[in-house]
Amino acid sequence: MTDLNSQKQAALEAIAAAGTLDALEEQRLAALGKKGWISLALKTLGQMSPEERQQAAPAIQAIRAEVADALATKKSDLESAELNARLASERLDLTLPGPDMPRGTVHPVSQVMDELAEIFADLGFAVATGPEIEDDWHNFTALNMDESHPARAMHDTFYFPESDNDADGNRMLLRTHTSPVQIRSMVAQGAPIRIIAPGRVYRSDSDATHTPMFHQIEGLVIDRGIHLGHLKWTLETFLKAFFEREDIVLRLRPSYFPFTEPSVEVDVGFEVVDGKRVLGGDGDAPGHGWMELLGSGVVNRRVIEFAGLDPDEWQGFAFGVGVDRLAMLKYGMDDLRAFFDGDVRWLQHYGFSPFDQPTLSAGVGAKA
Ligand code: DAH
Repeated sequence: MTDLNSQKQAALEAIAAAGTLDALEEQRLAALGKKGWISLALKTLGQMSPEERQQAAPAIQAIRAEVADALATKKSDLESAELNARLASERLDLTLPGPDMPRGTVHPVSQVMDELAEIFADLGFAVATGPEIEDDWHNFTALNMDESHPARAMHDTFYFPESDNDADGNRMLLRTHTSPVQIRSMVAQGAPIRIIAPGRVYRSDSDATHTPMFHQIEGLVIDRGIHLGHLKWTLETFLKAFFEREDIVLRLRPSYFPFTEPSVEVDVGFEVVDGKRVLGGDGDAPGHGWMELLGSGVVNRRVIEFAGLDPDEWQGFAFGVGVDRLAMLKYGMDDLRAFFDGDVRWLQHYGFSPFDQPTLSAGVGAKA
């Protein structure tokens, strides 16, 4: 017993002196491990007489408990010391200014598309997409422009060589408008439909207001009993939300598109402020005017038929508008070509913070 007591004394001193968790583990193994001195002492109990055992067992258990306690206490001391050391060395000062890194901005076209998606989502419209490499049937024929239709010539189409025709012999092309997404949506989902389709379109045309690639957004509603009144209300609601003005006034002018009947061209009243046209107000008022903004109409029953729906059951309205044009009008740029130059200075000036997501509650117009 005296032997065990002095071993215990030595062990408690070694435990107290252990400076690391590893050193402490060594002490635990030496005492309580399989071959540790306490484990060995416990094994000797088996060879003792019952009287000897009755005396020795509680003594050895007491030593075991004392050493185990000392190990546990030391372990938690060492662990909290280690944690404190890590907290001290890994501390971050969150009040330091952020590093001076190049900061990207959101392109006005992306910003406007996000704004439009937000406005139309609130009206129950989903966002639909279609391919930019389109076939002749979706881009023209199904939109009531067969091969001989004169409206085709107005589109300055980029065609692919005939060797790239699709399996049905359709000529491939870069879509000239987002209207083929109308057809794709009707074919894919049937009716009813409420979608907008923003995206890139291509025409062989280039000057200050035309670039070979530009952006449109298409709108399509297909349901029962749809008429021009639904179109007018939707466009008015959308334009008021987009331009953040209640005094947006629309003028619907009869027009012609092969895929709508009747077709209407929509003008918006503007006033001139500091030499710039600003949308809002009655275009007929003195000093005001009308600006042509978008094309729209009631979906031609031939188009509904082409897309595989019954035009006696389903009607709809559609509209198409230039996204770049909307951005220029809202944010005051005057040269479309700059949109696609990738000039960082232009982007710093006209771009938007990625943190400034358009939301209806905050007013979709981000502060540039
Ligand atoms: N697709 C036409 C264009 O690019 C725009 C357009 C006009 C779209 C009338 C429509 C519409 O959906 O109804 O010139």
